[in-house]
Amino acid sequence: MTLSLRHRLEKLRIQVGNTPVKCFRTGGVDLCIKLEYTNPSGSHKDRIVLGMLDNLIDTGEIRENSCISEVSSGNTALAVAWAARYLGLKARIYTTPAAPGAKKKLIRALGGELIEVPKDVDRGELVSEAIEKGCVPLKQDDNEYNVLTHYSTTAEEILRQMNGELDAFFMGIGTGGTITGVGSRLKRFSSQVRIIGVTPRNSVLAGGKGGDIIPGLASKEVPPLTANSRGIIDALIEVSREEAWKYSWKLHSITGFLAGLSTGASYAAVEKALKQGLISKGSRIVIIAADRLHSYITG
Ligand SMILES: Cc1ncc(COP(=O)(O)O)c(C=O)c1O
Repeated sequence: MTLSLRHRLEKLRIQVGNTPVKCFRTGGVDLCIKLEYTNPSGSHKDRIVLGMLDNLIDTGEIRENSCISEVSSGNTALAVAWAARYLGLKARIYTTPAAPGAKKKLIRALGGELIEVPKDVDRGELVSEAIEKGCVPLKQDDNEYNVLTHYSTTAEEILRQMNGELDAFFMGIGTGGTITGVGSRLKRFSSQVRIIGVTPRNSVLAGGKGGDIIPGLASKEVPPLTANSRGIIDALIEVSREEAWKYSWKLHSITGFLAGLSTGASYAAVEKALKQGLISKGSRIVIIAADRLHSYITG
């Protein structure tokens, strides 16, 4: 018996989320890490891809054998290819030559069509091309289902897993979907919870010209999804690429976890926030391990 597209999506959803939270003591705070890399394709992006697809199936824009498309240099691209293979959809993925080789190989192995484009190519043109080719673009960068999915799944899990006892949430800003979705739910729970955005040193978001590259985090552009984040993000902390690396390794030294650079960046930001007095000793803090360190080790 062949299952319907909707039925297959529901089966896939069972495998996503409910990721573990592990806490340890560091620098006088309780740091709790939500291990989003335990999602099937290896990152928090599995959640939002299912959230965006769910909506597009509801509206009838995606049907059996449809083609879906995304412009992404990393985790979302992989999550799209992973979901498409299971759902029997085609995936057309635009990525940059600099995207990690292992991810590109896996996307192709999953049957995704991978098109490498220069880093500075206009995203709008790629979206138009995908539409011309008969594909439905997911557009995570300004898709409200990116935010809504984190609001209704990631944040609910955090509240439950922390028994509602947390003082701050730190998150690197890429599309801004996680910080906006989780942040708005946590603020609704308690306006006392501090929501701290983590951004690369000299990023445009921090008022710079676009500086350090920390994979997954926005450096040269202000993500549209952060436009409505006033009142949600209490402070932004800049982190250099070197600090992100250093704290990814520090995390491993203390806990054994192998988390990617954006997790290291969040850990570095926690220590900076402590020094700046943005959070106090004894706080209970949640960060996200969006992905694993593996794909960033080259050579
Ligand atoms: C490794 C990693 N960390 C953090 C983020 C930021 O998440 P968001 O896009 O929800 O802001 C991303 C987004 O691509 C990512 O790939």
